[in-house]
This record gives sequence, C-alpha cells and structure tokens, in this order.
Amino acid sequence: MRTPVIAGNWKMYKTTAESQAFVKEFLPLVAGVQGVEIVLSPPFPSLSVVAALTSGTKVGVASQNVHFAAEGAYTGEVSPGMLKDAGAGYAIIGHSERRQYFAETDDGVNRKVKAVLAAGLVPIMCLGETLAEREAGRTFEVVERQLRADLSGVAAADAPTVIVAYEPVWAIGTGKTATKEQAQEVHAFLRGLVKEIFGGLVAEKIRILYGGSVKTENIAELMAQPDIDGALVGGASLKANSFAGIAKYR
Ligand code: PGA
Repeated sequence: MRTPVIAGNWKMYKTTAESQAFVKEFLPLVAGVQGVEIVLSPPFPSLSVVAALTSGTKVGVASQNVHFAAEGAYTGEVSPGMLKDAGAGYAIIGHSERRQYFAETDDGVNRKVKAVLAAGLVPIMCLGETLAEREAGRTFEVVERQLRADLSGVAAADAPTVIVAYEPVWAIGTGKTATKEQAQEVHAFLRGLVKEIFGGLVAEKIRILYGGSVKTENIAELMAQPDIDGALVGGASLKANSFAGIAKYR
C-alpha cells in the first residue's frame, strides 16, 4: 500500500511571521488525519522556522529548490545538506516554474534528484507537458522523455523513495484542472514506465502525485483514481483551512 502524500507549495508567498501563523492554525486542523503524509514547502527564509514548529508532528517540510553540489562557490544556491540541517525532509525539484523562468533542464533535475537522495532527503520531482505539447498530441512523448532523463542513473534501491509529481503546465495556477481521467491516464503511463525501467516492485511502491489547480472540490475524485497517490498543491495550500480540507479528503 502506498501512503498518500498531500504537499503544499507556497511558492514565493509568506513572510516568516505569516508562515508561523499558518502553522499554528494548521496543525490543530490536521491533528486527526491518519495515514497521509502532509508536507509544507515554505520559501527558504522560513524553512527552519516551519521545520521547528512542525517537528514531532505528522507534517513534514520541503524546500522548493536545491542545488546539486554539497557546497561550493555557487552564489545564491542552497545544498541538500544545508536543507537537511535546516529541518527539511523533502525537496521539490524541477517545478515547471523553475524550468520555465530559471532555465532548469532535465540534466540539472537529474543531478539534483541524485544529490538529494544521497543526502537522505526525499525528492518531489516534477514533470508535465505544456498546453502546446498536449494539443499537438505529444503528452506521452514529453513526460516519457522527462521521466527517463530525470531518473537516469538512479539506483533501483533508491527509486521507491522518489516522489513523482505530474503537473500539466496548463493546469498550474489557471484554475483548469486536468480531468480525473486525463490525470489517471498519464499516471498509469508513468507507472508503466517506472516498471519498465526499475521493475514491478518499484512501480508498486513509487508515489505519483497530481498537481495543477487542486482544491477541496476536486481532491476526492482525483484521489479515487488507482494511480494517483497524492497532490502537489499551490494556490489552495496558502490558507490553512483550504489546505487542511485537502489533507482531509477522505
Ligand atoms: P496550483 O499550483 O495548485 O496553484 O495550480 C500547483 C503547483 O504549482 O505545484
């Protein structure tokens, strides 16, 4: 059985004070949630504060980005070890906004995935097609290329640790969710690919999240799909009430 993951991505929102206020309101709301991994992804400055406030609770913390080197002359970057030291347990890698605005490539994503695994953190590895690619009938070709490149050289023993987030770019922040059928179709395809690359056992264990305009209104029907193991939530994760509602989808 795969434990579902509900991860919030705050993007570049919330000061430290706002992050603290969120956590204080959020923790009691999810106190009764069982059998779901809940993750918050604050901006770097509030990461350690959120980690300290959630320490010992069922709520984990992810960074929104990471560098692949352990340390070095990389101005503006943060290493996996530093994130772990700050209290993160997960790192979001290859979000479409990073790919689109910060020239992130599959090669870079792949290096980050391997570095994060080596540091003992859980990568939340994002991929997904653009609207133009979907309309050109290239969805499967694009996500296959991304999955193969992003996981290249990852050991089969480490692969079940990776969390894959399928996020169709056209559904992010647009209010346009993929239908449950559209999402399930791609998730099943990705799981099939994982089986081909790493074998059936890994394919059964690996968690594949859906992301793109997830909200309280559509989470239950998405989670009812056999290959959807959770969600990566942007806008609807910014308010404690709405994100708690998503975590309590059952
Ligand atoms: P959204 O963002 O939920 O606001 O569409 C999802 C994401 O970017 O991970």
